[in-house]
Amino acid sequence: MNRKSWRAAAVTGVVVAMTAATAILWQGTSNAASTLGASAAERGRYFGTAIAGSRLSDSQYTTIANREFNMITAENEMKLDATEPNQNQFSFGSGDQIVNWATGNGKRVRGHTLAWHSQQPGWMQRMEGSSLRQAMLNHVTRVATNYRGKIYAWDVVNEAFADGASGARRDSNLQRTGNDWIEAAFRAARSADPNAKLCYNDYNTDNWSHAKTQAVYRMVQDFKSRGVPIDCVGFQAHFNSGNPVPSNYHTTLQNFADLGVDVQITELDIEGSGSSQADQYRGIVQACQAVARCTGITVWGVRDSDSWRASGTPLLFNGSGQKKAAYDAVLAQLNTGQPTNPSPSSPGPSTSPTTDPGGGGCTATYSEGQKWNDRFNGQVTVTGSSNWIVTVTVGSPQRITATWNVSATWDSSGNVMTGRPNGNGDTFGFTIQHGGNWTWPTLSCRTA
Ligand code: XIL
Repeated sequence: MNRKSWRAAAVTGVVVAMTAATAILWQGTSNAASTLGASAAERGRYFGTAIAGSRLSDSQYTTIANREFNMITAENEMKLDATEPNQNQFSFGSGDQIVNWATGNGKRVRGHTLAWHSQQPGWMQRMEGSSLRQAMLNHVTRVATNYRGKIYAWDVVNEAFADGASGARRDSNLQRTGNDWIEAAFRAARSADPNAKLCYNDYNTDNWSHAKTQAVYRMVQDFKSRGVPIDCVGFQAHFNSGNPVPSNYHTTLQNFADLGVDVQITELDIEGSGSSQADQYRGIVQACQAVARCTGITVWGVRDSDSWRASGTPLLFNGSGQKKAAYDAVLAQLNTGQPTNPSPSSPGPSTSPTTDPGGGGCTATYSEGQKWNDRFNGQVTVTGSSNWIVTVTVGSPQRITATWNVSATWDSSGNVMTGRPNGNGDTFGFTIQHGGNWTWPTLSCRTA
C-alpha cells in the first residue's frame, strides 16, 4: 500500500479504532447519571438546549429543560432583529429573560448570534458598504458588552460560507463590506467581552470531504496563524435523510480541534424516529466524546413540537414530553464516558526535548501537544531561517496521521516526513498515532 492509501485507510479507520479504544478504557464505569446535563458534566462536557422565551410559561417545557440541560441558547432572542430593532435602539428584554432563567437555574449560556446575513432588522437589510460595516461592529460591541461576563461562548459570526462545491463565502450585504468583515467582528467581540469564547458557527460543515467544510477549516487555520481571536467552531448539525450524519464526523471534529480551537455541536436535530434516529444521535455523541476539545452538545429545542422542523420529529422528547428512543441512546452513550478525566491517565514516558542543534542554518524545537489514548500531537518551531526544510522521523510503529501549517512529503518507509513552509509561518504541528510507543520524534533542520 503506498503512503497515500495508507493514510486514507488510517483516516477511515479512526472512527472505528477510537470507538473500540474508548469503549475498552471506559468499561466498568458504574457512575451512571440519570440526566443528560449531569452525565455530560461529570465527564467535563455540557449538554444544552435552545430555549424559546415564549415557552417559558409552559411548565412541562421548563420542567424538562431545567432537569435535563445545563447550557442554554436563546433560539431567537439574541439575534440582530431582536436586539437592535431600530438602529442604535437596543432591546435586551427577551434575551435577558432567557439569560436570567438559565443563570437562575445554575446553567450557562451560549450567545447566538452577533453577526449573520439572516434575521437582520429591516434597517440593516437595506444597508451596504462602510455604513453597514460600522453598524455591524457597533452591534457586536453593544450586544457583547450588554452580556459581558454572562456568556460562555458567542457565535460571533453565523453561516458566512456558501453551500455547494465552490468553497466561497456566501454573498450577503455583510460579505460585500469586504472579506475581512468576519475577523473585524471577532476583534470587536473580544474587546467587548474578553472572557467569552468566540466561535464561528455554520451548517453543512459536518462531512470532512465537503468543500464548505474545507473552506471553513482554511479560514480558521488562517485566523489562528494570524492571531485573529477565535476560540471555537460550532457545528449546527441539522440532519435529515437527505443530509445524514456522515461517517467521517469524528475526523471533521478532530481536524478542527487540532487547529487549536474547541469544537461544539450547537444546534443538533436529526429528523426521523425510532432506532434509526437513535443510532444517529448515538453516533454524534460518540464522535464528540472521542475528541478531547469537543466541549459540549446542544440540541435545537426540547420537545418535537417545539422544533423549528416539528414535522420531522427531530428532538429527544415527543410532543407529550416523553423520552424517545433517541433520548435513551444519548444518555446511555454519555454514561459510557469515564467520569471527570477525558484525557489518558498515563501519558507515557516523556523524553528530553528533541532539538536539532542548528548546524544546517536553522534550529527546530519540538514541544508536546495534547495526548489521547492512541495518539499525541506535537509542534515544531523553527528559528534562524524562514526558508527551512525540517525532517521529522518517528519510530516504529508510529505513524504521522495529520499535519498542519506545513507542506509535507514522505519517504518510502513512511517514517520520515519532510516539511517545508506552506505560508503559515514557522510553527507547524502533527498528530502521531503511537501504537504504544510514546517516544518523541527526532528533528533535523536545514535551509533550502
Ligand atoms: C431558527 C429558529 O429555530 C426559528 O425559530 C427561526 O424562525 C429561524 O431560525 N441556523 C441557526 C438558527 O443558526 O438560528 C436557526 O434557528 C436554525 C438554523
